[in-house]
Amino acid sequence: MKVLILKSAELATEAASREILSLVEAKPDCTLGLATGGTMEPVYAALRQGAGAISFAGVRSFNLDEYVGLAPDHAQSYHRYMAEQLFDHIDIRPENTHVPRGDAASPNTEARLFDEAIAAAGGIDLQLLGLGANGHIGFNEPFSSLGSRTRVKTLTRKTREDNARLFAEGEEVPTYAITMGVGTIMEARRILLVATGAHKACAVAAMIEGPVSAACPASVLQFHPQATILLDEGAASAL
Ligand code: GLP
Repeated sequence: MKVLILKSAELATEAASREILSLVEAKPDCTLGLATGGTMEPVYAALRQGAGAISFAGVRSFNLDEYVGLAPDHAQSYHRYMAEQLFDHIDIRPENTHVPRGDAASPNTEARLFDEAIAAAGGIDLQLLGLGANGHIGFNEPFSSLGSRTRVKTLTRKTREDNARLFAEGEEVPTYAITMGVGTIMEARRILLVATGAHKACAVAAMIEGPVSAACPASVLQFHPQATILLDEGAASAL
């Protein structure tokens, strides 16, 4: 695992977007694994700018996760997030973007088909990841199986509290999500995890310096041969 500590969140997120743009430039038909969350907003802002010069027309993408029960047009769905943050602003083809359908009649079947679609696309070249304050990646909460595949997970109270700020007052954060599994994520050929802010420092320390354990799902990245962790000084402050 390569750990890079940048002076600021801006520098860390810019570095992430540069990595993605240089992959798309070198391999215009690459497959990207994409993430959501506040950390990724500046990454996508920089991609929107860079995408003027670099075409995403041949790129395929698979998102990590989606809330069960939210239709693609729901304001807090990750479908909507991706459209607003990235897809509506670049030349990626809508049919080449894949976000699990939270409103699928059978979320379990949707999860299985999603995993199969990743395999059919030849796997993911670069998986972008954020980090939950409890050490989750995607929505693989603590004690998720390290070999897990894309499936339905119950969200912890901590995650639902952390994400409540994004929902309207009085609106419940969904209880379940469809998420790529830890095993699915580990099959990506390269991984780029971005964490910024001192509130992530404990999770970052557990991920990098702790034992590899399902108690901190992100710690499994210690075993990935091509994982880069981009941090700002706040997120690195407990190392
Ligand atoms: C959500 C997402 C994760 C993301 C995490 C961190 O729970 N499912 O994929 O990494 O939030 O989000 P933020 O960047 O807002 O801290």
